[in-house]
Parts: sequence; structure tokens; C-alpha cells
Amino acid sequence: MESITKNAITIEKAQSSKITQVDFDNLAFGSVFSDHMLVCDYRNGAWETPKIVPYGPVSLAPSAKIFHYGQSIFEGMKAYKDKNSDIFLFRPLDNHKRLNISARRMSMPELPEAYFMEGLTTLLALDKDWIPQTEGSAMYIRPFMFASGEGFHASPADEYRFMICLAPSGPYFSGEVKVLIEEKYSRSANGGVGYAKTGGNYAGQFHPTQLAKAQGYQQVIWTDDHHHENIEEAGAMNIFVRIGDTLITGPTSDRILDGITRKSVLEVAKTEGITTEVRAITVSEVVAAAKDGSLKEMFGAGTAAVISPIAGFGYRGTDYDLPRVENSYASKFKRHITDIQYNRAEDEYGWRYKV
Ligand code: PLP
Ligand code: COI
Repeated sequence: MESITKNAITIEKAQSSKITQVDFDNLAFGSVFSDHMLVCDYRNGAWETPKIVPYGPVSLAPSAKIFHYGQSIFEGMKAYKDKNSDIFLFRPLDNHKRLNISARRMSMPELPEAYFMEGLTTLLALDKDWIPQTEGSAMYIRPFMFASGEGFHASPADEYRFMICLAPSGPYFSGEVKVLIEEKYSRSANGGVGYAKTGGNYAGQFHPTQLAKAQGYQQVIWTDDHHHENIEEAGAMNIFVRIGDTLITGPTSDRILDGITRKSVLEVAKTEGITTEVRAITVSEVVAAAKDGSLKEMFGAGTAAVISPIAGFGYRGTDYDLPRVENSYASKFKRHITDIQYNRAEDEYGWRYKV
């Protein structure tokens, strides 16, 4: 990677640290933020030198296009600290690639790899004491970009801001996860922006998810927008189903986020000798499998959610509970992947990246 920024990242340090106010043994997900953040502006057709400044509010014109037309994208990553306090990322170049895939779809400028990687590693090195070492916790990293350029014309902005904030975080879900298979609302459609990590994809899920929460479910399982027959994705995770001993997940498409955890699970399954099928999963086959006892597991996979077993699902007014299986695939994948992430095991895939 050619160093474009050439150590030119300027650092303005916070006058005092907030770290002593944080209870690292009881971290929620994404609700406390480290002392610093990275800011990099795009003006006159080029990215300016990134800066690291104290974490704090951002000032924007009311006519900034982010507020009106929603040009905004983000990534979700984690940094892990091992027992020697060495710091690791997991497949970070894949996040950079996906950021630029999202940028292209939303008519935003692509960010060079060196800005992303040098910005991220410099920020992490500065706030390294904030990376939790407690079991089940990690530093959640939120790189994001939005249209800071002004104007009410409904067209792409001419200025953008890229930022990275860090949030020491505990688990995304606090208890067991029950999901509702959705048939009325859709998350995405063919030709749409489902594969892009753009803010509106999440805002559009809030209302149906609130309705599902009121019925006792934590997440919605999105089905295809056309017939609502294929299981596609959950709000913040890709979905896997185990029927008998076969692990099934839907194929990626322009409706589904190409999850880094999803593709890691598929690789680990190969190593573990687990039969996988990447194909459309129909709701009717999952319901039939739940009824005849061959539905062994469902789980979600994502950076925030890691591997989250699904305890049951609701469909057309009926609740289906999943059995508790010994040596579940979910527990195998979680162990295998987190052992690599936290540097507890050899990384035969080359996924770990030392900061
Ligand atoms: N699907 C959606 C909608 C997500 O928000 C996420 C989280 O990033 C994922 C899937 C999982 O992707 P990854 O494993 O790259 O975090
Ligand atoms: C992630 O897993 O990193 C995500 O982006 C999910 C997010 C909506 C919390």
C-alpha cells in the first residue's frame, strides 16, 4: 500500500481523557466513544489531509445534502486486544472495499486505501487504552462518510466528509434473539441499494422492527420484496439456517449486504467439513423443517452481532421454537472466528491484521 498520507495526519489531542468514567466490565454496544476521532474532507475533487481531533460535535450547514437527500454510507469493524495487549483487526481491507462499493452506488467519492488504513491505525494507536480486553468486548469501529456540500438541488453534493469514531462495546444483543419473518414491509428490492451500507437502509427498517419488538421479537427477517417467500437477511446480520446437517445461506445479490462474517463462516465451514449450500432458502421449507424436527439451528452473522443464535421465529401468527443443540454449528463458528480475531489461535486464512 503506497503511503499517500505520508504520516501527514495531524493530531490535536484531547485536553483530558474521559477514560476513567467508563465501566469496561459493563459495556453496552456503541454507546460510549473514545477521546478522539478522524476527520477527512473532500473538496475541489480531492481528499484533503486527514486530521485526528478530540471526539465532539460536527458543524454543518443546514443545507448540507446529507440532511436532505441522505447521501451517507458507513462501515462496521472491530479491533481486538489479545492477552499481550497487541491489537488486531479482522479483514479490514474488505471493509475498505465495501465502503467504496457503497460510495459508488450512492454517487459519492471513493476513499483511497491508504487514507482508510493509515487513518484507522493511527487513531487506534492513539486511543489504544480504550480497546477493551474483557471477554465478549471489543472496540467497535465506525468509519462513515456523508455529503457535507450544500444545496437543495437533488443531485450529488460537491463536498464530503469521511470520519472514524471508536466505541468500546459489549455484545449487540443482551438476551436471546427471536425473529419475526416479515411479509408486508421490504428492506430492499432488485436494482435498489440493499447491498450498500447506506443509512436509509437502516432507517427504513426501524418502523417494522419497532412493530416486531412490540410483539416480543428482537429482529425482523427480511424476505424477498416480490413474493416474500425467500429468507434474505436480518436487520444487522446475514442469516444461516441448518436443516439436518446442512448449513444454508442465501446468495448475495443487489438486495443483500455482502457480509464479511458471512463469507468467513462459509470458509470456516469448509475447514470444519460442514456441508454448505448457498441458495435461496424458502420460508415454507424452514417452516416444514421446524414442524418435522429437521430444523436444527438458525443464526445471524455480522460484525456487531458476531454469531447470534436465533431461539425462535414467528411466522403468520405462529411461533416456532428452535431446539437447543449440543455442539451447535453456531458455537463452532463463533469459537473458530473469535479465536482468530482475539489472536488465540493460528490464522490459517490470513484474516488477522496486526495494528
Ligand atoms: N447485513 C446487514 C444489513 C448488516 O448491517 C450487517 C452488518 O454489518 C451484516 C449483514 C453483516 O456484515 P458484516 O459481517 O460485514 O459485518
Ligand atoms: C455491524 O455489524 O457492524 C453493523 O454495521 C450493524 C450495525 C447496524 C450495528
